[in-house]
Amino acid sequence: MEKGKVIIVEDEEHILSMLSEFLTANGYTVDPFIDSKKALAALKNNGYHVLITDLMMPKVDGLQLINFIQKEYLDTLGIVMTGYGSMESAISAMRCGAFDYILKPFKFEEVLATVDSAMYYFKLLKSDNIPKGLTLKANLLRRYAENKIIRENTILRSALKDKYKFENIIGVSFAMQKVFEMIERVADTNATVLVTGESGVGKELVARAIHYNSSKRDNPLVVVNCGAIPESLLESELFGYEKGAFTGAVSTRLGRFELATGGSIFLDEIGDMSFNLQVKLLRVLQEKAFERIGGSKTIKVDVRIIAATNRKLEDLVSENKFREDLYYRLNVVPIHIPPLRDRRQDIPILINFFLEQSNRINSASIEGFSEEAMKALMEYDFPGNVRELQNIVERMVVLKRDGHIDIEDLPEKLYSIEKEDAVLQQETSIDIDKGYDTLVSEFEKTLIIKALSETQGVKSKAAQVLNINRTTLIEKMKRLGLD
Ligand SMILES: Nc1ncnc2c1ncn2[C@@H]1O[C@H](COP(=O)(O)OP(=O)(O)OP(=O)(O)O)[C@@H](O)[C@H]1O
Ligand SMILES: [Mg+2]
Repeated sequence: MEKGKVIIVEDEEHILSMLSEFLTANGYTVDPFIDSKKALAALKNNGYHVLITDLMMPKVDGLQLINFIQKEYLDTLGIVMTGYGSMESAISAMRCGAFDYILKPFKFEEVLATVDSAMYYFKLLKSDNIPKGLTLKANLLRRYAENKIIRENTILRSALKDKYKFENIIGVSFAMQKVFEMIERVADTNATVLVTGESGVGKELVARAIHYNSSKRDNPLVVVNCGAIPESLLESELFGYEKGAFTGAVSTRLGRFELATGGSIFLDEIGDMSFNLQVKLLRVLQEKAFERIGGSKTIKVDVRIIAATNRKLEDLVSENKFREDLYYRLNVVPIHIPPLRDRRQDIPILINFFLEQSNRINSASIEGFSEEAMKALMEYDFPGNVRELQNIVERMVVLKRDGHIDIEDLPEKLYSIEKEDAVLQQETSIDIDKGYDTLVSEFEKTLIIKALSETQGVKSKAAQVLNINRTTLIEKMKRLGLD
């Protein structure tokens, strides 16, 4: 017996076909669509009971399909699918009238259960023993949606809180202590924060810690990666648009600033934002207001802004690629996270942290690292910073599973450096053709680099090690091009 009519809209072909097959095997009649624009046309005339749609799609997105159902007073109940990271967009879909959401990656059984419960509600709404009318549908669905959001969010929020609890940012170095102190000081203010540092140093982690340690923690934290979204889309992502603002704008859409109301917005890779959008962002920072694309109504925003970049904004300013006024507005509270090689004291404790984590996740039981392996890790430069260290540890745990990690187990790049060093040290024969002055400069340079690396780059300490004045050291560094 046919259980109901389902339309599935998903731009990933294999998910679409597997899900369609699964629901068909379980008694539903399924119309799969890879093209959301075509789905929109089909939705109107085919009397579907249930719509299952992906949220992020080119052309027409899932939210627009949900809005279309409302606008056309269709009976169809909408279910949206979205990644764990875009929970907030699932919630806004629920607010726009979606019946339910499913977080990716999902189990097919989970989808089936959700479709079954949508069918149950659908029949309930159509049955004769309750009064008909749209208000009833709206009320019933709202109640279902609210319950779901409240239930899931308590679970989700406590999971998130745990994940971004301050204690989960590991660091014993002086540099990280300063970062912690800054987070603590600014978290519960409204100040705009600019987090800087190389790739993989933990900028996003810090941004999240700021949000989850502020009084806005129960409101959304909306993340926007300004570098990953094409310029043409970024504007509508940030500010939203009014129905009819451009071809394809079939209904009004809220931007991320509005979705973040009462909470925080994290503008990642802000250095990649186009000049044109920088002007608009500046206005949000100055006036706390903006208009949706194609709209004339000024919308006030109550949102905390946290921005991050791995580029040197000062340099971009002097190259005229980043507006100076915006830079000053963003840089109210700067938090700089130094690269891992400049705070090597953090390496052992991070290793332990990631080791415990990876053991737990992979049900493995690596006890630790041999002295030699630890030494190689301590001396490695980590161009990919903490993320690279985390990956190395995870890979070792997965590959070895128990016992100790020895130096041979480490990725080759780690111990080949050791070998290079050894070769370098043997090459002490003097190339007299270079001339006396060059040789002395080279020797001086080596000494200074060694002293600086032993003192984590703190010049006053390096000067002490070398038994010279700090100013002398700085002069020498300038002369030798060591800045
Ligand atoms: N101090 C830390 N303690 C524990 N984990 C950390 C720490 N710093 C970074 N990590 C972990 O390293 C990874 C990279 O961190 P994150 O994504 O915050 O870096 P990022 O600076 O935003 O990098 P990118 O510039 O590439 O976006 C994450 O998995 C994060 O959990
Ligand atoms: Mg990041």
